[in-house]
Amino acid sequence: MKRMVALCVTLMMTTLLFGGEPMNDTIKTIMNRKSVRAYKDEPVAKEKLELIVKAGMAAPTAVDKRPWEFIVITDKALLKKLSDVLPYAKMAEKAGAAILVAGDLDKQNGGRDSVYWIMDCSAAIENILLAVESLGLGAVWTAIHPNADRIEPVRALIKMPSHVVPLALIPIGVPTGAEKPKDKWNPKQVHWNGW
Ligand SMILES: Cc1cc2nc3c(=O)[nH]c(=O)nc-3n(C[C@H](O)[C@H](O)[C@H](O)COP(=O)(O)O)c2cc1C
Repeated sequence: MKRMVALCVTLMMTTLLFGGEPMNDTIKTIMNRKSVRAYKDEPVAKEKLELIVKAGMAAPTAVDKRPWEFIVITDKALLKKLSDVLPYAKMAEKAGAAILVAGDLDKQNGGRDSVYWIMDCSAAIENILLAVESLGLGAVWTAIHPNADRIEPVRALIKMPSHVVPLALIPIGVPTGAEKPKDKWNPKQVHWNGW
């Protein structure tokens, strides 16, 4: 009897919160993702970083051009140097690792002056953030492009060619547990069959 009541309550809660569709593991990961800026002093295993980059590379890209480059950083001195040149990525210094996502202008759909690389790399970044969450790690998207004063010092540190543009640095680490996901659901921003 107790189990029946518990089941009914769970079903009612699910219906109230998620419109009747029970959440699967993927949706739970999406809903639990949050920017994590505080990490324990622990490294991130190479195998996990490789899996995270694989998830990034599974993202869609315009005309399947895949104009991305992923620079995996585990070197503590380089993490510190990046945090020094990026005003809003100070947490990188304390991260176990970071992934820098960059776009190759010459590989993107539409040629050098196009902007598809930004969308392509952004899709990869979101995949990376979700993979990180699913592995019990924490990460945050920190902006480089479109700020010229961030792009150039990052390029110099990484020795990146000029046709490659760094879009974001994603510090990754074992979360301290301080950050929680935000509820951003706003039905007023949803328009059915027109504005
Ligand atoms: C394009 C973009 C740039 C961002 N740049 C930074 C940044 O430089 N530093 C930072 O700490 N967070 C940055 N963020 C993270 C946002 O602050 C964060 O996503 C937002 O506050 C919502 O919080 P949530 O990620 O926990 O849902 C950026 C996010 C996006 C999408």
